[in-house]
Amino acid sequence: MTEPRAVAEAPHFRQPDPAPSEEVAANAPDGLDEGGKTRMLWAGGVSVVVHLPERGLPEVLHWGRDLGDLSHRDFEQLRRARTRSVSPSALDAPWPLTLVPGEQDGWEGRPGFAAHRAGRAQYPRWTVADSGFETDVDTGTLHLRAEAPGLLLRSELRLDDAGVLRAAHELVNTGDRPLSLAALEAVMPVDDRAAEVLDFTGRWTRERVPQRGPLAQGSRVRETRRGRTGHDAPFALVLGTPGFDTAAGELWAVHLAWSGDAVYRHDALPEARTVLGAGPLLRPGEIELAPGESFRTPDAVFVWSDRGLDGLGDRFHRSLRARPSHPRGPRPVVLNTWEAVYFKHDLARLETLARTAAGIGVERFVLDDGWFRGRRDDTAGLGDWTVDPGVWPQGLHPIVRTVRSLGMQFGLWFEPEMVNPDSDLAREHPEWLLQPPSTRAWRGQYALDLTRPDAFDYLLGSISALVGEYELDYIKWDQNRDLIEAVHDGRANVHRHTEAVYRLLDRLRALHPSLEIESCASGGARVDLGILDRTDRVWASDTNDPLERLAIQRWTELLLPLELIGSHIGPPTAHTTHRAAGLDFRIATALFGSAGIEWDITACTPGELDRLRHGIACYRRLRGLLHTGTLSHLDTGDDGTTATAVVNDDRTHAVIRVARHATGNRALATALRIPGLDPDGRYRVAPVLELPVPRGLDEVPPPWLEHGPLLLPGAVIADVGVQLPLLAPGEAIILELQREPKALGSDGTRREP
Ligand code: DGJ
Repeated sequence: MTEPRAVAEAPHFRQPDPAPSEEVAANAPDGLDEGGKTRMLWAGGVSVVVHLPERGLPEVLHWGRDLGDLSHRDFEQLRRARTRSVSPSALDAPWPLTLVPGEQDGWEGRPGFAAHRAGRAQYPRWTVADSGFETDVDTGTLHLRAEAPGLLLRSELRLDDAGVLRAAHELVNTGDRPLSLAALEAVMPVDDRAAEVLDFTGRWTRERVPQRGPLAQGSRVRETRRGRTGHDAPFALVLGTPGFDTAAGELWAVHLAWSGDAVYRHDALPEARTVLGAGPLLRPGEIELAPGESFRTPDAVFVWSDRGLDGLGDRFHRSLRARPSHPRGPRPVVLNTWEAVYFKHDLARLETLARTAAGIGVERFVLDDGWFRGRRDDTAGLGDWTVDPGVWPQGLHPIVRTVRSLGMQFGLWFEPEMVNPDSDLAREHPEWLLQPPSTRAWRGQYALDLTRPDAFDYLLGSISALVGEYELDYIKWDQNRDLIEAVHDGRANVHRHTEAVYRLLDRLRALHPSLEIESCASGGARVDLGILDRTDRVWASDTNDPLERLAIQRWTELLLPLELIGSHIGPPTAHTTHRAAGLDFRIATALFGSAGIEWDITACTPGELDRLRHGIACYRRLRGLLHTGTLSHLDTGDDGTTATAVVNDDRTHAVIRVARHATGNRALATALRIPGLDPDGRYRVAPVLELPVPRGLDEVPPPWLEHGPLLLPGAVIADVGVQLPLLAPGEAIILELQREPKALGSDGTRREP
């Protein structure tokens, strides 16, 4: 936790005198509440200053760089400094910008709250009572409470030690008539210098493709209506200063920790400060609150960086790694059976696969789709969660025994939320389907309505029974269709269904605390911090083509650290693109993640198995560093070459993968400059021992690659760089940097060797 500073009441909070000075009151413009209090959250180099007026909702005066030790008077002056003027032909008072902006304040952008009661408009006149806020010092949370006739709004702003701010609202219908909620979103102000917008799109096997452009005026909304996070999810909405890049620029970003439909929005209106925000997408009539009922939004996760995109990623990673639930043990090497055997489950063949896998160092064997009743292809069986007696007459026990006897963990694939019409479950319980029968099928399947207690209990019971019977270490939890026309009792039902999916995962984990779960959805269509609150890694994409994977993983890394990103060595010719790639390139790509294999390795040559064995040994040796170190994406000066670096906390050890996916203009490779090292330390720089140095395109490769390691000061590596070989497209080299121990001088202090 950040050290408390002088006037702070507690590490995360600065709370100046609640009474406004006469000066502030005297200078308050018309229509601006001159009373109120100011609170500051601060941690991890970030501060958030919130003004809590006596009337109206809290207003965020600052979200960004830590402002340091401010006196009470500074807070007052800060508020004065941020008080806007009044533009011509506009409201007679400055445009307000509250935590939940709305028309009642004169805000004409997208509202943060929208609702009606039987058609009656709701423009609440919020009041924040004296007791309307409290600070939770242990969690760095500011709790805010506002009331309006028939409404209670509880808001939470939580700033963690990584400087990541989570905002959530809970709305209670305290009226005596139902309230139909249309929107409840969190927004934060962005500095006026923000001029560019980055978000993401994608499709199956090509997830998280960046799209960037100028920040245009207007209220701009990205909606997702897929009933799951989606291959084309916005993922992160980033506003930044002109020309921001990987390492430079000031950025303000939001991610919604949610696996259902979402709204990402930014409002750049002529009269107001720019805001960005996010919230759940609610369909008409979807959330109807009876008197006394409440609705809580998923967390909108706000991250500020003054170090470009890697600065954003670093905050996300530190925040995730600090969670008590973050997977701690070494991330095992996985063998997943999908691209090895697809639906052709055969005990003898799978045992050979398991033996081959164990022989090269695999640690977890995952039996993918195809093991349950009636599942001979993807047209039937979903929903019937018992082992197919035709294919597995003795149940899964023989394969589980073999896998365990080889020293590996055992994992099993499920797709709990889905059902094929050709299944006993659908025949017995057609009423459990989430969609009307006339809805279009998708991969021959439909979703189950998990908000039905009977369907929920059936799934929890049958999955839990299998976890118990086979002592499963791991579940790959798949979800292979968008939800279209999801309804419950005639009411749109994506949101409540998503909450039920979370409940099902939570209940299963509570019953089986050591069970690990992977989130998969047709590859990477469910990659978000909501699902990651209850799972241990994501399957980033269904493509194992390393060229595609390099880009998909690079952008997934904006949000997630490497240990949460499933990445497998696929077959020589990718099943998704039909493109061939060399084994060493496939290995180098998969190593930077939660690594595994998805390939029929029983058909490998001894030479291939040997290279896999070495690759796995390399991963097992380096994963402690890869899965705890600081990740950055280095500028190689060549559009066709990427460099991904991980440096450990004490800067004694670093590993860098340089990968080339396309040729460029230059006939010589550039020198790679590697920041983040100890400038005064001396580093041994060499390719990792376990993997061969690629042939490259140089007539004469850089001599240091052939004649032993370099020994260079960190400052030289950072500012002069290391000459790279000219890699061919489809080649990668992994460099390892070890800091030499500093020699002890006679006075006991360390000296350079
Ligand atoms: C989609 C997943 O993304 C694949 O990895 C595989 O598990 C298939 N489903 C199985 O049906």
